[in-house]
Amino acid sequence: MPLIQRVVAMPAEVRAACDAARARGLLVGFVPTMGALHEGHLALVRKARQNANFIVVSIFVNPTQFGPNEDFIKYPRNLDVDIDRLSDLADVDLVFAPEVSSMYLAGDETRVTVGALASHLCGPLRPGHFEGVATVVTKLFGVVGPCTAVFGKKDYQQLAIVRRIARDLFLPVTIVGHPIIRDPDGLAVSSRNAYLLPQERVRALGLSRGLLLASRAFASGERNAGVLRGLALAAVAAVATSVDYVTVADAESLVPFDDAAAIGARAVLAIACRIGQTRLIDNVVLGEDDLHAFGEDDSHAQF
Ligand code: PAJ
Repeated sequence: MPLIQRVVAMPAEVRAACDAARARGLLVGFVPTMGALHEGHLALVRKARQNANFIVVSIFVNPTQFGPNEDFIKYPRNLDVDIDRLSDLADVDLVFAPEVSSMYLAGDETRVTVGALASHLCGPLRPGHFEGVATVVTKLFGVVGPCTAVFGKKDYQQLAIVRRIARDLFLPVTIVGHPIIRDPDGLAVSSRNAYLLPQERVRALGLSRGLLLASRAFASGERNAGVLRGLALAAVAAVATSVDYVTVADAESLVPFDDAAAIGARAVLAIACRIGQTRLIDNVVLGEDDLHAFGEDDSHAQF
């Protein structure tokens, strides 16, 4: 017997259900996803439940955030499996699974552009990506209405951009960030991990290994951006088919540090690379995330 109250496809139905929930005094919690749900997504749902008592999960593979040569067509889609997964949680009140034509109405032409935050890290490598994310997230917030929305730190730049949109546009949404969920061996869980062949899955551990090595150095007092970056880059370059970037950046503005710079109390170390055909991203906030995030002190850890 599914515990989810409803699966709906139309924005107006979601708005009506959320308005009704708020009228009953409930707090709406919202987790936007593109489906292919995994433990990372489920953790966001549980977090939403801690902050709210009417939980909406959207499942929508948003075409405008994929570049022409990206994986929009092959992105994993299985709504029935996703709904089963959410049903097991017993924490979700409404699943919003719209068609593209309901989110982008005929004649749709409004786009949300993002400023400097989108010009760093993944921005230059994925032209239009963050505009697509910003646009769909703004639409989704418009559909759901006042809520607390939970986003993962796995997509660190996306989270920073979403916070900025909510602030700049005075959206009635409180943004909550959730730590990265990792497999026991350290690999950040991702819908795209499904693309990895078994040997590539082993190579992909180079990302979290690089972040861990730099985190350990930071914990031992290393503050030189180039040294920290170099530790991560060496681990990534050893396994990657190609490296998009390994960057130490200001944790708020995302402006990269020069290699010669000394970083302050807090900085983000972010990685994007390809393992075979698959593009993976990962990051750590030095000075904030602790080594346990990588399974350090965990007997399963393989560093
Ligand atoms: P998607 O990749 O499905 O991710 C949905 C949410 O899950 C995002 O907030 C993402 O950061 C979070 N997430 C993914 N892997 C995670 C992990 N290992 N640990 C913690 N959180 C994780 O991100 C998107 O979809 C889209 O861009 C979206 C925001 C839905 C807009 O289309």
